[in-house]
Amino acid sequence: MNVVAFNGSPNKEGNTWHALKMVTAELEREGIETEIVQVGNKAVRGCIACYQCAKNKNEQCVLPGDEVNEWIQQMKQADGIILGSPVHYSAIGGTMKSFLDRAFFVTSVNDGMLRHKVGTAVVAVRRSGGLPTFDQLNNFLNYAEMLLPTSNYWNVIHGRTPGEVVQDLEGVQIMRVLGKNMAWLMKLVAHGKGAIPPPEREDKTLFSFIH
Ligand SMILES: Cc1cc2nc3c(=O)[nH]c(=O)nc-3n(C[C@H](O)[C@H](O)[C@H](O)COP(=O)(O)O)c2cc1C
Repeated sequence: MNVVAFNGSPNKEGNTWHALKMVTAELEREGIETEIVQVGNKAVRGCIACYQCAKNKNEQCVLPGDEVNEWIQQMKQADGIILGSPVHYSAIGGTMKSFLDRAFFVTSVNDGMLRHKVGTAVVAVRRSGGLPTFDQLNNFLNYAEMLLPTSNYWNVIHGRTPGEVVQDLEGVQIMRVLGKNMAWLMKLVAHGKGAIPPPEREDKTLFSFIH
């Protein structure tokens, strides 16, 4: 089994990375392979709402020149996915948001490529905005019909300068417990495959009162 974790921070080994390492260390301890992919310091354009991905249905975003399509394939290959972001103005870091908008839209219009994979999110923050950011990251996982492990608090860790989060003992415990629960959920899902059939996938009903 394997997990791909996305670091949405521009800091390669900053607090988000430390949070991801805390979770992946537990996964590795349980025999699950992990990789941390650096997203936040790359040049990634936002979604241009062209809807070409929905027409082409080839698992690709048409925007050229970055690694988004490669990262989509990495998610497809993975059994588990972790989204990590620093808090920037009480929200997901801009580059990470650009990546997530494009990648998750592509996976959604290609028959729900991430459906029933295990996925979670972690957030690094100095002081305020941790929960709204956690909520925003979870929106991607929920929409994709993924299976979400939990911890003993919300998955937010506190620190300002790179590495400061290791001093947030409660945050460290949250990440550790999350890693253990994620590993267990992944094993349960793997164990159930072939034994308990998943519910049939329903095509999305798009309904609005505005015609
Ligand atoms: C552009 C920018 C905006 C930020 N906005 C917030 C904020 O709204 N609330 C907060 O508590 N910290 C804020 N911070 C601080 C970071 O969230 C904090 O330093 C975090 O640990 C950085 O994680 P990283 O090392 O992975 O980049 C901001 C930092 C930057 C660079």
